[in-house]
Amino acid sequence: MQAVIGNDIEKAATYLKNDALVAIPTETVYGLAGNALSATAIAKIYAAKNRPSFNPLILHLPAAHHIEKYALLPTALLPLTAGLMPGALTLLLKKKPHVPDILTAGSDKVAVRIPRHPLALQLLQRLPFPLAAPSANPSGYVSPTTAQHVLEGLGNRIPYILDGGPAEVGVESTIIEWEQNAILVHRVGGIALEEIQNYTSLPLKFPAHHNGKVQTSGQLKSHYATQIPLVVGNPNILSLRHTHKKLAIIRLKKGNPVSNGQEFPLSLNGSLAEAAANLFAVMRIIDAGKFDMIIAERFPDEGLGRAINDRLDRAQAIWK
Ligand code: TXA
Ligand code: MG
Repeated sequence: MQAVIGNDIEKAATYLKNDALVAIPTETVYGLAGNALSATAIAKIYAAKNRPSFNPLILHLPAAHHIEKYALLPTALLPLTAGLMPGALTLLLKKKPHVPDILTAGSDKVAVRIPRHPLALQLLQRLPFPLAAPSANPSGYVSPTTAQHVLEGLGNRIPYILDGGPAEVGVESTIIEWEQNAILVHRVGGIALEEIQNYTSLPLKFPAHHNGKVQTSGQLKSHYATQIPLVVGNPNILSLRHTHKKLAIIRLKKGNPVSNGQEFPLSLNGSLAEAAANLFAVMRIIDAGKFDMIIAERFPDEGLGRAINDRLDRAQAIWK
């Protein structure tokens, strides 16, 4: 099989109705979509990504009023659904019994999201079922932000890639859960925490990962990994320890030049949103180049800078 790239929503819908998989654009990253109510389609998603069966999938819906068909929505979250959905926000909710266990990997909770990309929304509106869609990359690698990235990673495993252009946000959705008197943040992502705080006065909590049990994305060490070693820190200091290596330097803006390094500024004017949109594409470009090592500076811990730092930390984790 070799995937075709196109923008035919009708064709995408036909594949999906037949339990085939289609890569779809979303504003965060491209998703590998299948019928979320079909165990056959879901099994194909796990197989195509080589994803561990204990790592559950997000349920994608066409509008917020569909959420209660599949899950219990606490009233405390209503301002967030009204203000931030569609968007790069995923809610972890108690699931209703008819939601397939294979989608949630046996958990009694289901993650739900309404993507904001017009092609994704049109497709979801046209289908009689919601879509399960993890990021459309082989498990463990960097998420795809263009149709071409999907083709490179999964092109021989799926028939069709719906091309919606480069992803606007560029990092995966923020995953949250309501807990009495608090919002648990399971993954920092495309909706900044500051934005969440505009819609709730509840405090944000960051649950620790315990018992080696996967709770959300990236608890797997290899998540977001590049193929060459990546370290996070001050490029001008770290580069002195690696003088014989060819270095790729990821920074927010241009910095002090490093003699044995090539710089990859993610945003010339220092916009964290633009940097997030460029991050994964730049990681792929560096991976395909002739570098020995990546040094990424630490980004400001605010706005989308948090999601960038999180992905860089996870990328460096397997090299430690
Ligand atoms: O932006 C996004 O969220 C993208 C686009 C395609 O929508 N999707 C995405 O999916 O990033 P994925 O599968 O790569 O990451 C979603 C993470 C999973 O790693 C999983 O650990 C967590 O969400 N998750 C999903 N369902 C869950 C559940 N029932 N309980 C706990 N965690 C869950
Ligand atoms: Mg993923």
